[in-house]
Amino acid sequence: MGQPRQATLVLDKSFRIGTVDNRIYGAFIEHLGRAIYGGIYEPDHPQADEHGFRQDVLDLVRELNVPVVRYPGGNFVSGYNWEDGIGPQSERPRRLELAWRSVETNEFGSNEFVDWVNAAGAEAMLAINLGSRGIDAARNFVEYCNHPEGTYWSDLRRHHGYEEPHNIKLWCLGNEMDGPWQIGHKTAQEYGRTALEAAKVMRMVDPSIELVVCGSSNAKMPTFPQWEAEVLDHTYEHVDYISLHTYFGNQSNDTANFLAQSVGMDSFIDTVIGICDYIKAKKRSKKTLNLSFDEWNVWYHSHQTTAKEEPWQIAPPILEDVYTFEDALVVGCMLISLLKRAHRVKIACIAQLVNVIAPIMTRTGGGVWRQTIYWPYLHTSLYGRGDVLLPVVQSPVYDCKDFSDVPLLEAVGVFNEEKEELTIFAVNRDLESPLKLNGRLGDFEAYKVVQHITLTHHDVKAVNTETNPDNVIPRNIGNAQQSSSFLTADLPALSWNVIRLAKAKD
Ligand code: AHR
Repeated sequence: MGQPRQATLVLDKSFRIGTVDNRIYGAFIEHLGRAIYGGIYEPDHPQADEHGFRQDVLDLVRELNVPVVRYPGGNFVSGYNWEDGIGPQSERPRRLELAWRSVETNEFGSNEFVDWVNAAGAEAMLAINLGSRGIDAARNFVEYCNHPEGTYWSDLRRHHGYEEPHNIKLWCLGNEMDGPWQIGHKTAQEYGRTALEAAKVMRMVDPSIELVVCGSSNAKMPTFPQWEAEVLDHTYEHVDYISLHTYFGNQSNDTANFLAQSVGMDSFIDTVIGICDYIKAKKRSKKTLNLSFDEWNVWYHSHQTTAKEEPWQIAPPILEDVYTFEDALVVGCMLISLLKRAHRVKIACIAQLVNVIAPIMTRTGGGVWRQTIYWPYLHTSLYGRGDVLLPVVQSPVYDCKDFSDVPLLEAVGVFNEEKEELTIFAVNRDLESPLKLNGRLGDFEAYKVVQHITLTHHDVKAVNTETNPDNVIPRNIGNAQQSSSFLTADLPALSWNVIRLAKAKD
């Protein structure tokens, strides 16, 4: 055994990328599989409250401190009639749900979602249907949710038991409209025009709302990045964010390549920022458009075909990825990627939150447990609030199938000025060897390491299950130390690390 490899991380209190918008720790709940029925909502469950909300699930959502939840889809929204989900539950229609080939009972709808999201301590982000429907349904939906009273839709909401408006601030103008799989798929020209007119009419109802226009479904779409440019040509002055979606997988069982995928996420974000700024310049606009990375995660273990093989089930168990330890490292790298671009990524939603490609798993009628990916999501949400410091990294690199010069060290620092805490999030991508981290922390001489959490496992394919929920869990066993402005730590081979420093008390 030779000397461990070394990497350097320089952070300085004065060099800040931007303040983290806490909404980057958002999540997503779709009418899909068991995300709602058997996930967040299960009236017959022993842990359900009077609304049918599972308290064991809500406890974990609160533990994650999720700030915003996107709803009701996803592909689902492009065939959804929002009016089906309001009013007395016994009168709501059952519908064929075409996106996931299920039966939707509509027992759970927008009002139940608002109640649930309030119970979770989060904010709702609603999507309108720009697939099978258009501006009329959109304006009515905003009126139903946000107008105080005295009109048909606002009084209907009051009649349904919600006297006060929901005041939903964030609205998505459809979902993945560039995708041929989408109900009502559109060209960029068609979508750009429709989104513009929807944005205008929704803002006529409530000028205070914020709007997210659809970017590409992923960076590999043949229409990316022309889609973004054309759509923004129509909508730039009328929207606040453009969406990005990305899912990674390890189909070829090549861990080194899988761990490098966040490098692609970095360049996806940079490209979309570039397009936004190009349109800004083209329009001589004063406004800077920000990004909503409202679907991101690892997704490849499950086969979404289950419901297609046996269609028209209610809440079939589809897209239930069981996440491995290596998936947690990739999720950690993706979170670092979002943090490194905190100056422009203002909203992000892990997709999804419960059961469907999710950090939280349940058994219908049974227990709840944390998947491996829960941990980096929890740590960043708890400790990654504040100002992101510019990370200057010098690290050994490697080449893999999709990328060259991938740094073994992926890292970022978040400074919480109010709490006088600095947290470093770091992944060692090395499959076999620890990495010695040498930190140079400018203007943090008065700080001391208070905790070094590590998430490691000898088996990259290790998972958590209902019967073995603590197989992959973080431990406070890291050896980070600081003396003056120098930090040292051994980052185990294949590890997620959270190094927390706080100002020493006099
Ligand atoms: O999150 C699962 C699906 O992935 C969503 O419905 C869709 O928007 C995306 O393709």
